[in-house]
Amino acid sequence: MHHDLQGRFPGVHFYNPALTEVQADVAIGAGTRVGSFTLVQTGATIGTGTTIGSHCNICACHIGNNVSIQTACHITRGVVVEDGVFIGPHVTTLNDKLRGGPMTFPRICKGAKIGGGSVILPGVTIGEGATVGAGSVVTRDVPPGVTVTGNPARVVTRETGKS
Ligand SMILES: CC(C)(COP(=O)(O)OP(=O)(O)OC[C@H]1O[C@@H](n2cnc3c(N)ncnc32)[C@H](O)[C@@H]1OP(=O)(O)O)[C@@H](O)C(=O)NCCC(=O)NCCS
Repeated sequence: MHHDLQGRFPGVHFYNPALTEVQADVAIGAGTRVGSFTLVQTGATIGTGTTIGSHCNICACHIGNNVSIQTACHITRGVVVEDGVFIGPHVTTLNDKLRGGPMTFPRICKGAKIGGGSVILPGVTIGEGATVGAGSVVTRDVPPGVTVTGNPARVVTRETGKS
């Protein structure tokens, strides 16, 4: 545990530096905020102007600029979260189909919005500007700009508003 978090990351705002753990070899950009009881693991890179909420587990993934990740998210190793993405509370990404892999890594493209409680399965790409409804289980790639809901997540049609 590093006790001088604020000294290591002068441009970063920790809600309470004594209650956050950031392991060695992590990059965090200026203006980013990190909540309490969050663990950021070795190898993670986090951009500028991003918010990581409390109770998150951030593995060796890449998180871009101006991203918002709300309370209690689990972001697995190898995930890419592009700029401007919004991730609601209690979202889980996954990278291993069933222990023993091969691992494949989700990618959440620019400006996508992920509703609270969603699960993003290994290797899934969420397209630019797409929306994932709360509580969805996303098993397939989501095209840019569309909305998906449900388990398994399906595209919502404009006519009915239902997946
Ligand atoms: C997906 C979402 C964007 C759709 O919003 P919307 O277009 O206003 O949709 P509506 O509320 O009109 O619902 C349309 C239909 O889809 C269903 N639906 C809406 N959201 C759903 C969801 N997450 N999962 C399953 N079905 C959903 C509704 O039940 C409704 O069906 P019905 O007509 O049979 O009742 C929204 O419901 C949602 O899940 N937002 C995420 C909220 C969130 O997690 N915020 C995080 C920060 S607090």
